[in-house]
Amino acid sequence: MKVVGIIGSPRKGGASARVFSVFASELKALDPNADVEQICLADMRMLQCTGCDACLKGECPLDKDDDYPKMVEKLVAADAIVVASPVYFFNVPGLLKTFIDRSRRMKMNRNMLKNKWFGTIVASGLRNGGAESVTSLLLVWALSQGMLPMSGLGNPVIESGLPITTLQKDKLKEFRKPGDEDEIADKAAKRLAERVVELVALVKR
Ligand SMILES: Cc1cc2nc3c(=O)[nH]c(=O)nc-3n(C[C@H](O)[C@H](O)[C@H](O)COP(=O)(O)O)c2cc1C
Repeated sequence: MKVVGIIGSPRKGGASARVFSVFASELKALDPNADVEQICLADMRMLQCTGCDACLKGECPLDKDDDYPKMVEKLVAADAIVVASPVYFFNVPGLLKTFIDRSRRMKMNRNMLKNKWFGTIVASGLRNGGAESVTSLLLVWALSQGMLPMSGLGNPVIESGLPITTLQKDKLKEFRKPGDEDEIADKAAKRLAERVVELVALVKR
């Protein structure tokens, strides 16, 4: 099983990357043979889409000048893809949006990402700060690429299936640091790992 994580935060060591590492550790614990690779967009050279529409024919002229093709190669080889994103103004950060815009050529090229399981991890600063909106945006992007969105499944009374971490705790001025554990998000990330193991076994490539 190959799983690729896309870390969409421009800052290193952020909360979204931390929850992804919880997910990745659990996946390795459940399946020691799992190959989990992390693509940190902040480390990639990635040019912005210019809207030239060359991708309608399955090609992107920017591919020859940056790291996008390397990422495509890894994604195409994956059984499951997990995007970890911060919330920036109730949306994804520009870095991740650039990645999403550039993905159009994969869609136009016979849906290169179709039938890959897809999961989300989202980090917000504030409670009610837009994490669920960003989760929805990512899931709709996955649907548009023919991917198979999934969530974790745990105790339905006390666990949400969507890994969302929030820096703000119970009080207005009480914040966790991005590297601090978040019981609820970490549990959901582990549940997502369980689901990946279960679902990847169902779809034979
Ligand atoms: C430009 C910018 C915009 C942000 N917008 C929001 C927002 O709309 N809602 C929110 O809850 N947090 C917002 N935040 C806080 C981040 O979501 C928070 O710091 C989160 O931990 C970032 O993820 P990371 O730690 O993985 O980088 C914003 C942060 C930045 C830098």
